Amino acid sequence: MIKNSKEMDWTFLKENTREFTHIYHDYPARMIPQIPRNIIKLLGEKEGGVLFDPYCGSGTSLVEGLLAGLNVIGTDINPLAKLISEAKTEYTINPNELSNEIHRFVEFTMNPKGTPKIIDKENLEFWFKPNVIKSIGLMIRYISKIKDPRIKNFFEVAASETIRESSNTRKGEFKLYRYSEEDLKKHNPDPFSIMKEKLFRNLKGYESFYNRMLELTYKPTSKVYFANTVNEIPKDMIGENTVDLVITSPPYGDSHTTVAYGQYSKLSSEWLGILSYNVDKASMGGKKIEPMNFECDELDNGIKQVDEINHKRSLEVYSFYADLRKSINNVSKVIKNEGYACYVVANRKVAGILLPTEKSIVCFFEHNGFKHLETLRAFFQ
Ligand SMILES: C[S@@+](CC[C@H](N)C(=O)[O-])C[C@H]1O[C@@H](n2cnc3c(N)ncnc32)[C@H](O)[C@@H]1O
Repeated sequence: MIKNSKEMDWTFLKENTREFTHIYHDYPARMIPQIPRNIIKLLGEKEGGVLFDPYCGSGTSLVEGLLAGLNVIGTDINPLAKLISEAKTEYTINPNELSNEIHRFVEFTMNPKGTPKIIDKENLEFWFKPNVIKSIGLMIRYISKIKDPRIKNFFEVAASETIRESSNTRKGEFKLYRYSEEDLKKHNPDPFSIMKEKLFRNLKGYESFYNRMLELTYKPTSKVYFANTVNEIPKDMIGENTVDLVITSPPYGDSHTTVAYGQYSKLSSEWLGILSYNVDKASMGGKKIEPMNFECDELDNGIKQVDEINHKRSLEVYSFYADLRKSINNVSKVIKNEGYACYVVANRKVAGILLPTEKSIVCFFEHNGFKHLETLRAFFQ
């Protein structure tokens, strides 16, 4: 039992979840920063330890690890997640230098010149209005000339959000749905204004992160890799028995029936030239497999019940948990003997059956010799 863990309200409903670089880019199923922050505190992790997030998404755990003086490593199969995580964990740019670069961009927008760098995409005008295509093309050309890769990343992350917001995709959706013709008439975004707003907002977040990191005597490191942890965690990325703490939130199901990280990231990744494959197919549960027994009673019973109602759905469920298990087998190898693994999940229903994801994760780790400490629950009304 971890001291005081049960007395806390793990919903953190009234807290600011957008401090520091957490203000950057939105991301589907983003973790609440207070969760890793408090887990690190409760476990009493010391400066210089190693935190690993195998499905790091937008890097929430990584930022919190750095703030606690931990060296952090993240992996994800989504190239946009890698880009955002790298930008959010960067704390070595002088804020004045960054501010000067932003002001140079503002000047550029007053009289933007140059050849727009426009992507070769078949249905580009379906997703963007012609004037928006031109402005984004000019912006991408401008960013491609920024020499410092850290500053370039900072700009690319703001550009990615700008591209999403100025596209014809409906607001508030993670999947790609186009506005109706009626709504499109009212949708007249100015990519340059959106970009400036994002840059200045992110600069504020960066400054507070930078200043907080200056207070640390130990300067932790950060590495983010593009990797599919279901296949393997290459040793040159993370050695066996080297990680003190894993804090992560894995996908809750396959991309097709739950969160489509690939679709969410597609348009901006294409513009930024970082997408060359189908992220959703490569995600957990993306490939169908044959039924199997997981030797985890509650999971096996749950899938059996789904199968009785809807066989096709049960195959999707098998594939997802098979991948999650493989990934946990790989994650287990890199954690030290006295290390911890903390998985943040939500249980979901398939065909009306509640699947015990949290118990399955415990079971998969137990098969790797881990001991379950406790499950903390947060209830939302
Ligand atoms: C719930 S999100 C993580 C959100 C993150 N905690 C945050 O705060 O932004 C799950 C992530 O798992 C990634 N993912 C899915 N399958 C993966 C795999 N096989 N290997 C590595 N990452 C994977 C997805 O791309 C997604 O970014």
